[in-house]
Amino acid sequence: MYFSRKKSLRNSAGWMITLLIIIQLVPLDRKNPPETAPLAINNPALQGLENSCYTCHSFKTPWPRASWIAPVSWIITAAIHNGRDRLNFSAWQTYTKAEKQQLLSDISPIISGKKQHAENFRMLYPERALTTTQRQAILMWIEGEQQHDQN
Ligand code: HEC
Repeated sequence: MYFSRKKSLRNSAGWMITLLIIIQLVPLDRKNPPETAPLAINNPALQGLENSCYTCHSFKTPWPRASWIAPVSWIITAAIHNGRDRLNFSAWQTYTKAEKQQLLSDISPIISGKKQHAENFRMLYPERALTTTQRQAILMWIEGEQQHDQN
């Protein structure tokens, strides 16, 4: 009795491993297409966005190592594609004035910390947190753009 239970456990572990190997074969789109019309601003604002946001909001994604291991990779890859659809700094210049203003006012509370965003990512990659200098520079860029547009 004890013996056969052990055997069936070993069998199901075997199945799990086989399944894990098979799901690695599901092809995922991890391409970084060429940037069409990238955001052009100065450092340290640009550096900050690149480090903290470009993983999911640009075509310059530094594909995280976990994005190669299914099933985690499915979740990460989906987030990156959704993020790019919603806001893509690599295509920033293609947005209309109104779209840019809308995005800027969506970005602002995320940068200032008033709105939580991509929390799991921030926990997994603490080295991708914005520095105070980067944060201030990005907020200054946003304010500048918002005022510029009013005049
Ligand atoms: C791990 C991936 C990931 C990272 C990193 C990330 N985002 Fe996002 N972001 C998303 C996804 C996915 C969406 C789309 C969410 C939706 O539509 O529900 C999104 C949506 C947005 C939006 C649209 C409005 C909103 O609040 O949903 C803004 C603005 C935004 N992100 C800004 C940023 C900024 C600024 C950073 C860097 C500080 C950042 N994101 C980092 C994944 C990410």
